[in-house]
Amino acid sequence: MDNPKTPKVNLPYFDYLLHSLAQEDPDVTQSFGRHVHWGYWSRPSTATLTSADFARAADRLSQQVCVAGKVEGKQVVLDVGCGFGGTLALINETQSNMTLHGLNIDNRQLQRAQTRVKPKPPNTLQFHQGNACALPYPDQVFDRVLAVECIFHFPDRAQFLKEAFRVLKPGGILSLSDFTPKKVIAPLMKITLPKPFDVGFYGQCRVDTPLHQYHALAKQTGFTTITEKNITDNTLPTYRYLRTIGAQQKQLHFTALIETLTIELLSRLHLLDYYILAYQKPKH
Ligand SMILES: C[S@@+](CC[C@H](N)C(=O)[O-])C[C@H]1O[C@@H](n2cnc3c(N)ncnc32)[C@H](O)[C@@H]1O
Repeated sequence: MDNPKTPKVNLPYFDYLLHSLAQEDPDVTQSFGRHVHWGYWSRPSTATLTSADFARAADRLSQQVCVAGKVEGKQVVLDVGCGFGGTLALINETQSNMTLHGLNIDNRQLQRAQTRVKPKPPNTLQFHQGNACALPYPDQVFDRVLAVECIFHFPDRAQFLKEAFRVLKPGGILSLSDFTPKKVIAPLMKITLPKPFDVGFYGQCRVDTPLHQYHALAKQTGFTTITEKNITDNTLPTYRYLRTIGAQQKQLHFTALIETLTIELLSRLHLLDYYILAYQKPKH
């Protein structure tokens, strides 16, 4: 599975997660052992600060992306930036006759995914190491392409959209979740810090594409927008949960604290929004 041609990425939060998972940290295992993304609460006021509640909320976020992408039986589905395979696990558990593919740049994550997610026949499941901006698949092979909370890491959003369009069959759907800044702060988000500060805890993140520009990129690529759902408020309990488990960790991760607080503040002010978007490739 290890592909020497795949560029290396520096994602300190995954080094931390993989270390905590190897140590069998019960909270990290429950909350981030399957999905590595924010949670979704339809009624945020009902969120509790338990890891079990967060794990259910993380499952719900994947569900929302699948609903937006109309993921249902007998489809060929690619999950790009699949992490530990949580979204594919959810589809595998709930749908039948699916041909599932997961792609990630980091082989360590794929190894965990491969040992933990086993296809439920007649579903099939394969993982590949590769770069989202140079997908190692032929043209027009997938009914659905998913990208859950990962596009901000990709080297080039426009190039990823082109690649997703290329590998989708006519009528196929790209469904994704991503952070989008308000137009007014987008120029600030383009500022890159000098090395080594550009990496921080979450690695390189490009959260510099406001919604109108996202849609414009998708349109230029050939897609039609079919879903646009602002779920910022539904994800906000994530920050309270992160503070709770952060306080229990033995080691203080100063950059993690600062970066997470910044994202929380911008999100609460709706200067940074969290969207689920679905784009369809024309049928003809
Ligand atoms: C926040 S995690 C989300 C993981 C997974 N989608 C989930 O929701 O659990 C971001 C993921 O993007 C992956 N990633 C980063 N850059 C990538 C690239 N250029 N190509 C493919 N995957 C990439 C990371 O390895 C990581 O698994």
